[in-house]
Amino acid sequence: MSFEILDLSAGRRLIWHDADRAGVLWVDIRREVAPSVVANDCLLPLASGGNWKLVLFDPPHGRFNDANIGMAQRYGSLPHDDIRALIAAAGAEAWRVTRPGCLLAFKWSNMGFSLKRAMGLLSEWWEPIFGHAFRPQGMAKSTTSWTVLERRETRREVMALDGL
Ligand SMILES: C[S@@+](CC[C@H](N)C(=O)[O-])C[C@H]1O[C@@H](n2cnc3c(N)ncnc32)[C@H](O)[C@@H]1O
Repeated sequence: MSFEILDLSAGRRLIWHDADRAGVLWVDIRREVAPSVVANDCLLPLASGGNWKLVLFDPPHGRFNDANIGMAQRYGSLPHDDIRALIAAAGAEAWRVTRPGCLLAFKWSNMGFSLKRAMGLLSEWWEPIFGHAFRPQGMAKSTTSWTVLERRETRREVMALDGL
């Protein structure tokens, strides 16, 4: 089997039309969601420069309390500082294991911090191309978005920007 899509945060594969699609490597740190590989995105057990066509990244976007245990089980739960560290480190690792031309599809819900800030964490390695945001019905406060980014050929030096 040759893999061409790398899902860095497979979870229960709820976003997939075909949750058993061939050619997808499902990675998650939680063994209980039965990924193909139990691994931490910050240190992927994958070779550098692989021939991946697409990386999918749908990181946890909040810390859920006991009242939202179902959300925690579906999506994982992390403090916002840890989520920021995860996005930055996973972005760098996804860059390492891919080649120029690879695309990254990034899903974000701005419950804890803005899409702009999340993009800032990826921008050393990945260039945003286009995206779309929508507010799911019944979930009044947050906006969910999808952004497609392209792997940069070389790392881009970024200055720390206050207020992102
Ligand atoms: C928002 S959920 C993904 C939902 C999934 N896309 C779906 O369709 O059901 C985020 C996932 O990232 C996983 N995760 C959190 N930290 C991780 C890490 N350091 N490495 C790999 N996966 C991680 C969580 O276990 C959780 O399943």
